[in-house]
Amino acid sequence: MPALAHARRAAAWLLATPHRALGVVLAIGVMVMASAVLFAWSGAYNVAASTGHFRIVDYFLRFGMENSVRRRAPVATLPEGDDDDRVRLGAGHFHAGCAYCHGSPGTPISPVAASMLPPPPDLNDKVGLWRDGELFWLVKHGLKYAGMPGFPSLHRDDEIWAVVAFLRRLPSLDRRGYRELALGEIEPEPQSGAEIATGQTEADAIGACARCHGARQAPPSRLVPILHGQPTAMIENALRAYAAGERDSGVMQTAAADLSNGAIGRLARYYASLPRPVTQEESSDPAAVARGEAIARDGVPSRSIPSCLGCHGAEAAPEYPRLAGQSVRYLEGQLAVWRAGLNDRSVTGKIMAPIARRLSEADAQDVAAYFTSLAAAHEAGR
Ligand code: HEC
Ligand code: HEC
Ligand code: HEC
Repeated sequence: MPALAHARRAAAWLLATPHRALGVVLAIGVMVMASAVLFAWSGAYNVAASTGHFRIVDYFLRFGMENSVRRRAPVATLPEGDDDDRVRLGAGHFHAGCAYCHGSPGTPISPVAASMLPPPPDLNDKVGLWRDGELFWLVKHGLKYAGMPGFPSLHRDDEIWAVVAFLRRLPSLDRRGYRELALGEIEPEPQSGAEIATGQTEADAIGACARCHGARQAPPSRLVPILHGQPTAMIENALRAYAAGERDSGVMQTAAADLSNGAIGRLARYYASLPRPVTQEESSDPAAVARGEAIARDGVPSRSIPSCLGCHGAEAAPEYPRLAGQSVRYLEGQLAVWRAGLNDRSVTGKIMAPIARRLSEADAQDVAAYFTSLAAAHEAGR
């Protein structure tokens, strides 16, 4: 056939030297790109979420997503044990950061979220498909093509593990169990018609601080600090640092992002005025308390560690937190955050960061044991 013979001869000529072959590859590349631009320019592709993908595209995206997550996720697993402190903190964050897309026990996915493409699934059916490390990765990084956001602070792995601990608990929860964990002592009253109509109360109490920090009671999780009786200036300062992204906490950045200046002032005065709540006795080793007390009073001059009480006792500046009576877990956790190189961007963070980095992990355990053991009244000094 002459046509075929011509084509063969032309191809042989084009590929005869590396230069010509490269030219052919480039020309094909330019043509493919030009067609792609033309396709996008023409508007022929339907971007409507309402029409869905072809089933094969759905399948392909899911297949790609699962493989991508499995490939990148760490092999780490949740530390053993039934850890209520983590689960409660994770539930508190889930209520504000996830439930508006994924729904929660007793509250189905909203029709708005369900119209996303792909729609956010009910996580009850899904958490069992993933290993701990994979859930961790999903919560930390989110999913680009699905519009699922990543965690607001990418450095706080401890907070992300709290969310994973909660996800593991999720399938066993009914509406009541969920609300107990996520709402703490808050029990939203059924709203009247007028309240629903005028939006005067928030049905799900998403913005309520007392879900995590308590109000009449102590925080339900020992990973959450007691705010009751802290100086007003300290609470305001911390809220501004979270809202500005200068203090690393995905949980608190979520809670503080929308607060106006006026609300920050009112919240700070409210918590500053509350009496110290009763906390669970935490047993601590008397030797650790004694070592911690020595550091708190005198510092460790040989390692340039100053006395803590000068800045954290009753007479300290009002922007500085009081430490007496906070839980061991919270205090150790905060000191570990500085050791990890975080929280050194705010004015007050810059003061504490170099001191905290000089403390060893053992020092941190000792000073935490000491401050936890102090009766709050001892040094509240108000
Ligand atoms: C803006 C909506 C949105 C928010 C907020 C959101 N997600 Fe998602 N999430 C999605 C969508 C959409 C998918 C589905 C991806 C798919 O089907 O491929 C998803 C998937 C997941 C998956 C994988 C489930 C599966 O399909 O196997 C997990 C786990 C998950 N989300 C957890 C969370 C957690 C925990 C939070 C809060 C920290 C959260 N998501 C916040 C939209 C959201
Ligand atoms: C989902 C749980 C949760 C909610 C809701 C929440 N917080 Fe927090 N809050 C935390 C955790 C956890 C921390 C410790 C964060 C860190 O590591 O810096 C914290 C820290 C703080 C601190 C710093 C205290 C200190 O000793 O340094 C202040 C102030 C604060 N929260 C105020 C509020 C206010 C006001 C609200 C309501 C608008 C609120 N929080 C809502 C969990 C929560
Ligand atoms: C020169 C003053 C100063 C000294 C000395 C000091 N701190 Fe601090 N500390 C601060 C400031 C300021 C903050 C608030 C940091 C922030 O806003 O991020 C803080 C915060 C903390 C926190 C977090 C408390 C909370 O509620 O979030 C802990 C724990 C802490 N310090 C422990 C110590 C220990 C232990 C020592 C002694 C070894 C010490 N500090 C010495 C100024 C000081």
